[in-house]
Amino acid sequence: MKIGVLTSGGDAPGMNAAIRAVVRAGISSGHEIYGIKDGYQGLVQDQMDLLDSHSVSGMLSLGGTFLGTARSQEFLQEEVRLKAVENLKKREIDALIVIGGDGTYRGAMELSKLGIKTIGLPGTIDNDIAGTDYTIGFYTAVETIVDAIDKLRDTSTSHQRCSIVEVMGRYSGDLALFAGICGGAEFIITPENPMDKKAIIKKLKDHKAQGRRHAIIVITEKIIDVHAFAKEISEESGFSSRATVLGYIQRGGSPCPEDRILGSRMGSYAIDLLNQDIYGVCVGVRDSRMVHLPFANVVGQKKPKNELYSLVTRVSS
Ligand code: F6P
Repeated sequence: MKIGVLTSGGDAPGMNAAIRAVVRAGISSGHEIYGIKDGYQGLVQDQMDLLDSHSVSGMLSLGGTFLGTARSQEFLQEEVRLKAVENLKKREIDALIVIGGDGTYRGAMELSKLGIKTIGLPGTIDNDIAGTDYTIGFYTAVETIVDAIDKLRDTSTSHQRCSIVEVMGRYSGDLALFAGICGGAEFIITPENPMDKKAIIKKLKDHKAQGRRHAIIVITEKIIDVHAFAKEISEESGFSSRATVLGYIQRGGSPCPEDRILGSRMGSYAIDLLNQDIYGVCVGVRDSRMVHLPFANVVGQKKPKNELYSLVTRVSS
């Protein structure tokens, strides 16, 4: 078989491990693997190269995606998708492995309806894809955030400050939750755990009265203006406060071992599925086992709340 592989949407550490596994497992199964540049954009512009085993040497430890990625709004248009299918047919590529998030899966589902044998791998730091316990890139982003929290605790303690750390995650709080727990944050605010500002400020006053020298608040993006919140805390809690928006460093970095293994397992599993003529599905890891589900069962589905949320009291731990 001729199989295309692409990465789409926000990049994530571990995507290269997944691509490497697709190439190596694919070649060892006798297939030809084509690397498609810059997500669906490359598909539409016919930017694809035959990859060999050497093409993916040294990829395991490399962050980002060597194929490049993009967010392709135009792929929402039927005629653009038909152009993509035409390019695949021209090259006699009849299967496509896409690595990305919810938007990527939507494109793959549409291509599946147009006769392309597609398989989706969950590649995003947000961990917001249903049908899988973890997404490729999540654990590396958690590690990056925990490192930042540890550093911020040093300076917060020196200055008797409350540090507010805003993290990514789009509409999912998993990055804030996992990193907040690992970093020993006093407060973790996520879309799943709505904030109670007054209760937080009161709790901070109590901490100050108990002689605590610092406080850490970890909060998911898009909830509140963290700099305005820091000003309020400085004025009302007894702690001086500063906000740090971690931003795009959460997307970079060499993938941690968990993401190298997860990417490798998922890439190899995708080839196993195609070898069994199974497609139109997305791959997941559930209780450490590889699983697959039809796209329709995953796209647009809300992921069940992680049980760790129950460990976090609403205001402070
Ligand atoms: O989906 C991954 C992510 O990093 C989100 O956490 C974040 O909100 C978004 O991408 C940023 O999108 P962009 O890279 O297009 O600015």
